[in-house]
Amino acid sequence: MTARRASAPTGALSGAVRAPGDKSMSHRALILGAMASGVTEIDGLLEGDDVLATARAVEAFGAGVERLGEGRWRVTGHGGFRQPSGVIDCGNAGTGVRLLMGAAAGYPVTAAFDGDASLRKRPMRRVTAPLADMGARFEWPGEEDRLPLTLAGGGLKAIDYVQTVASAQIKSAVLLAGLNADGVTTVTEPTPSRDHTERMLRAFGAEVGVLPAGSGWTVTLKGGQPLTGTAVSAPGDPSSAAFPLAAALIVPGSQVTVEGVMLNPLRTGLFETWREMGADLTVSNRRMAGGEEVGDVTTRHSRLTGVVVPPGRAASMIDEYPILAATAAFASGPTVMRGIGEMRVKESDRIALMSAGLQACGVAVEEEPEGFTVTGGPVRGGAAVTTHGDHRIAMSHLVLGLAAAEPVTVDEPGMIATSFPGFVELMRGLGADIGAPE
Ligand code: S3P
Repeated sequence: MTARRASAPTGALSGAVRAPGDKSMSHRALILGAMASGVTEIDGLLEGDDVLATARAVEAFGAGVERLGEGRWRVTGHGGFRQPSGVIDCGNAGTGVRLLMGAAAGYPVTAAFDGDASLRKRPMRRVTAPLADMGARFEWPGEEDRLPLTLAGGGLKAIDYVQTVASAQIKSAVLLAGLNADGVTTVTEPTPSRDHTERMLRAFGAEVGVLPAGSGWTVTLKGGQPLTGTAVSAPGDPSSAAFPLAAALIVPGSQVTVEGVMLNPLRTGLFETWREMGADLTVSNRRMAGGEEVGDVTTRHSRLTGVVVPPGRAASMIDEYPILAATAAFASGPTVMRGIGEMRVKESDRIALMSAGLQACGVAVEEEPEGFTVTGGPVRGGAAVTTHGDHRIAMSHLVLGLAAAEPVTVDEPGMIATSFPGFVELMRGLGADIGAPE
C-alpha cells in the first residue's frame, strides 16, 4: 500500500522561499563533468532522486563524485566514460537515461540501462534511433523501444538529424554523442527547446553553433572537441518554483516570492501565460548566475481569465501544463491547451491524469488527443487522485486542494522527491495545510 497525502483549504499564504536547483542543469552538470577532463565543481545541484541516480551513473562510468555540502558537488572527469560493471539504473529520470545514453554512445563501452516501472513505459527509440544511425548498437531483451536495453558505443559518425518534435532530451542525446563522433553533427528542431546543453557545452570549452531554421533552429557541433572541467552553478528551477507561485495565485489574500528563479526564456512560457490570464506576477532583482538570467518572482492572489495557450509555446512550458491546468480551474472561462501530445509520454500520461484528477475535483475538462481544455468555476475538491507516481501530478493536485472547497488527497506522494525534495515543508512554511502521509 502506498502512502497518501492530503491538502486542505488554507488561509492566505505568505513568505519568501528558494526553489531547489534546476533539474535539467543538474543532470547536465554531472554528465558533462564526467565527460570532461579535470574537476567540475557544482553549486546548487538538485539533490532529488532523479539527479542522485545520474550522480551514481556517472560514478559507474568512472568519474569521481563527491558531495562537498548541501547542493555542492565535485565531479572529477577522466576525459570520457569507462566501462561500467553493473546495470545503470536511472530510476524515474527520463532526462537522466536519455542524456546518459547519448554520452555513453560516444565511447567504446557496453552498458545496460534500466529504470523504474514508470521509466520502463516511456519511449526510448526517439533517442536510440538517431544514436543507431550514428553507429551505436542496441539490444532489447524485452520490448523494443522500452527499457531495459544494452548499448554498445564507440566509432560514431556525425549525422544531420531533423526532429519531428521539439525535445531537449533528443537534441541533447544526439549532441552529446556528436561530441565523440567523426564529423559535424547537426540537430534541427521544429521549435527551439531548452538550450542548457548548448550553453553548458560552451562553458566546458566546446564550440556550438546555432542557425535559424524556419520556426526552429539548427544546432551544430564538431566532433572531437575536448571538454575541460569548470564551475557550474544551478539556479532555482522554474518548473518547481511554479508550485508555490501557483498556490499564491489561487489562495485569496496570498503573496509569495520565490528567489533566484532561472528566467531562461525557453523555460518561462508558464509565467507568460499566467500574465496573459491576468496574474499579478512580478520579477525583481534580475541578475546573471551560472550563465543564466535569474530573478525573484512574486505572485499575489489574482482574478484569472482563461486563455488560448499558443501551441508554439509548448516547448517552453512542457512540464508546466499540469500546474497551469490546476490554476485554470480557478479562472473564469476556458483555458485551451493544444499541441501538447508530448505530455502523454512524460512520467505519466499527463493529459489523461490531469483530466481525470480535475474532473474528480468537480472541474469541467474536455480531453483531446493532443491537448485539453479546462473551464474554471467553483472547485469542489474532495477527491482521492491517482498520480501513477508522477511528481508533477501530485504537486499540482496538492496545490489545487489549498483553494478547493474540500481537501484533495494524492497517492504515491513520496515520488515528489524525484524533483522537489522538501516540497511539503516549503509549502507548510508559507502557511499551506498539507497533512502527514497517511
Ligand atoms: C528536459 C526536457 C523535457 C522535459 C524534461 C526535462 C531536459 O523533455 O519534459 O522534464 O532536461 O532536457 P523533452 O525534451 O523530451 O520534451
